[in-house]
Amino acid sequence: MRHVLSAPQFDKAELLEILSQAAEMEKILITKGNSDMAKGKILATFFYEPSTRTRLSFETAMNRLGGKVISVSDGRSSSAKKGETVEDTMLVISGYADVIAMRSSEIGFAERASKTSRVPIINGGDGPGEHPTQSLLDLYTIQKQFGFERPLRIAFVGDLKYGRTVHSLSKILRNFDNFSVDWVAPKELDIQDEYFDPVKDRKWNELSDEVLKEADIIYMTRIQQERFDDRSEYERLKNVFILDAAKVSKMKSDAIILHPLPRVDEIATDVDALPQAKYFEQARNGVPLRMALIARALELI
Ligand code: CP
Repeated sequence: MRHVLSAPQFDKAELLEILSQAAEMEKILITKGNSDMAKGKILATFFYEPSTRTRLSFETAMNRLGGKVISVSDGRSSSAKKGETVEDTMLVISGYADVIAMRSSEIGFAERASKTSRVPIINGGDGPGEHPTQSLLDLYTIQKQFGFERPLRIAFVGDLKYGRTVHSLSKILRNFDNFSVDWVAPKELDIQDEYFDPVKDRKWNELSDEVLKEADIIYMTRIQQERFDDRSEYERLKNVFILDAAKVSKMKSDAIILHPLPRVDEIATDVDALPQAKYFEQARNGVPLRMALIARALELI
């Protein structure tokens, strides 16, 4: 039994295998729409924190694989509200389902869940910690656009301190030699040292023309209101970087803009129709990628 808990658990060979399996799943979606690969299997989605894409794309993925879904979309409607521990909860749910996708606001929560679960746990985001399945779909999107042969400069922009998708994707990209990273954040939301490579990376406090012109990938992130204790601090920082069409005009014509979504104001809607805007396509890639992850967890592929 293999859980999906954290981006560093994957080496390059396994990452390439997952991407190839996601491509196979995408072919199934395009040619047939669905499969009966997971017929008779049950996915439980247990989300203690809000989600639109992660939960619904996991559920879509399981439905497309021919399996069934049971779901808790709000942890407050579960017995967690009465004080039940995640260890007890997962021990019980793993008696109902064959695989569990979960999210919480606490770093390491999925890891705790994996200690008692009898079935594979898939981490759908643990607070400001990690979001490994998002980083896999990000990687899939990057591979479809560029492959992994040419040198690529990626700029992570926004809330790098709390941005779990940035944490996971940057760790995954270290498996590939062709990436260098620009970290663009206000100093209050700077990236932690463990993610920063002083040889290959650069740090910025503004979304400068130099960053825009040199980037192959701009990875925008939302300033994460829910992680701030001080509301006024959030208000001060929330619009620190806004990518609009005027800024995008400075980017290379074949560069792309990614965002894990949801966005608030950090990407102006006048960017959405530009060829560089790939964030809605990125969200769609979550379905085939998560079909592959479910099938792997169930040992169907
Ligand atoms: N990208 C992402 O995790 O979106 P949700 O919070 O809507 O699941």
